[in-house]
Amino acid sequence: MAVEPLIDESSIQHRLEAMGREIEDDYRDKPLTIVAVLTGSLIALADLVRRIRIPLRIALVQASSYRGKTTTATTLVVNEAFAPDVAGRDVLLLDDILDTGQTLSALVQHIEDRGAASVRTAVLLRKIGRQIVPIEPDYCGFVIPDVFVVGYGLDYNDDYRHLPFVGVLRE
Ligand code: XMP
Repeated sequence: MAVEPLIDESSIQHRLEAMGREIEDDYRDKPLTIVAVLTGSLIALADLVRRIRIPLRIALVQASSYRGKTTTATTLVVNEAFAPDVAGRDVLLLDDILDTGQTLSALVQHIEDRGAASVRTAVLLRKIGRQIVPIEPDYCGFVIPDVFVVGYGLDYNDDYRHLPFVGVLRE
């Protein structure tokens, strides 16, 4: 399969620089913990945090969605092995892409339940046209059309995550 470039490496790095500045301004003198959603946001996490020049902590969360056999509703199961310690912290939840919105909204609830002082969301990509849960990311890298993308953390069957750019997978 071919990967057709959609967002090049330097555009991603420029955008992360701007997001880093915004986050710095918003979280100065606050106990910031960036909680990254495995595995897709790992590359964005590594590049973003190195552009934020205020103290912060990093934590990880893993969630898997399961589709019921008799219904199309999906249930998100959070892996408690990671159990990020966010009590009293101002949390910025980082995900690779906002698609239907189910993952991020369920994780916001999960982090709130763990006692965070506040929870905001950041996504590298926001796909237009498929959102079913009303959630507005506080920080967004790029808005993209309804296409399946890979690279820069995003995968197809666990391949392509290492690409330094975001591309569209073509048969
Ligand atoms: P929801 O629908 O919960 O989905 O907002 C978020 C998760 O869905 C995956 N996803 C994608 N992964 N290319 C990918 O590699 C895509 O185009 C894509 N769209 C959704 C992703 O795991 C994300 O965290």
